[in-house]
Amino acid sequence: MAIVTIPDENRTITDPEEIARYLESIEIVYERWEPQHTISPGSTAEEVLAAYREEIDRLKARGGYVTADVIDINPQTPGLDAMLAKFNREHWHDEDEVRFIIHGRGVFHIRPRTGAVAAIEVEAGDLISVPRGTWHWFDLCANREIRAIRLFQDMAGWTPNYTESGVDSSYQPVCLGPTYFPQASQ
Ligand SMILES: [Fe+2]
Repeated sequence: MAIVTIPDENRTITDPEEIARYLESIEIVYERWEPQHTISPGSTAEEVLAAYREEIDRLKARGGYVTADVIDINPQTPGLDAMLAKFNREHWHDEDEVRFIIHGRGVFHIRPRTGAVAAIEVEAGDLISVPRGTWHWFDLCANREIRAIRLFQDMAGWTPNYTESGVDSSYQPVCLGPTYFPQASQ
């Protein structure tokens, strides 16, 4: 389950219904998908996509997404710092940013056109869609690991357009949840 914080209001939301309501109010699509026990940390991208085919097809039909892939990031990923530096500054895209988290954790900061900045810490089982044009930035949590399904409307559209507002520098990406894959930490 995601954890939402609104730093400027000193507020943390952990109740699932309240999270859903709050994210809807700032136009962020959020869903929880049932875990698929057929996949494990060693599963291939094809196996992950096959396990979630039904949900992916439902989103494709609803959002006009044409392709899905699986991204894997860990501390050994070549060029990791450069990759992260592209997305931890406030930006927007010409298409929705849709991610379903398989493993690991990260924090999306969203700056609505009106209202306070919200930080959404996502974990395994969370589906988030940041609509096109939304100002946002993304950081990994301390162990710098994430595996996620991505959906695209047009691969060319998914490049960052920076706002250069500098707002991002006022917010520290604070991760409140467990650092490791929940199954592994219990
Ligand atoms: Fe983005």
